[in-house]
Amino acid sequence: MDSNGIFTKLLVITVLLPLFSITAGTDLPDICPEIVPRSRWGAMDPLEIDYTIIPLQYIIVHHTVTPTCKTEASCSDMLTSIQNFHMNTLDFHDIGYNFMVGGDGKIYEGAGWHKVGAHTYKFNTKSIGLAFIGNFSNALPEDISLKAAKDFIECGIRLGELDEKVKLLGAKQVSSTLSPGLKLFRELKKWKHWSENK
Ligand SMILES: *[C@@H]1O[C@H](CO)[C@@H](O)[C@H](O)[C@H]1NC(C)=O
Repeated sequence: MDSNGIFTKLLVITVLLPLFSITAGTDLPDICPEIVPRSRWGAMDPLEIDYTIIPLQYIIVHHTVTPTCKTEASCSDMLTSIQNFHMNTLDFHDIGYNFMVGGDGKIYEGAGWHKVGAHTYKFNTKSIGLAFIGNFSNALPEDISLKAAKDFIECGIRLGELDEKVKLLGAKQVSSTLSPGLKLFRELKKWKHWSENK
């Protein structure tokens, strides 16, 4: 091999290969909040998975109407009991929400991206169902939780999961429920993507 050949080989090994591994490692946009994967909170496997067509046009916000949680351990326990209730009592295939927001400011993966959840009649195939863990009729979620949810929406848009013109709705706008709670709903109405009409 001549010296040019050796130079090319060295260039590939020392310059280009590290570049590839750097780009492979940064697959999530900076805006994305920490998303705790199912495996980390101890989710049971879904009984069935149905996929949605992305980008989705809606994000629908709920509250779980449970106590709040402030640590990953207590949020994980809460999600385990919600998943049990959804699968064993309501006969859903999985925990019904696509993602949940903890009082610890983390987002928890439920059914996940581009999967059909079970949260809002007639909207499950065209939306992400995002549930704040707690009862927000009379109280607001923590500031870190509100920020995580806002960042999560921008993250979804950057990932191509949500449409740039995604409409943010409170569940009560499209079904007969009080969810996501009056206090939280009033807050959502100030958010960038909130829409008065579905
Ligand atoms: C949620 O909070 C409201 C207001 O504090 C209360 O009236 C309601 O009973 C709570 N719901 C549950 C299921 O605890």
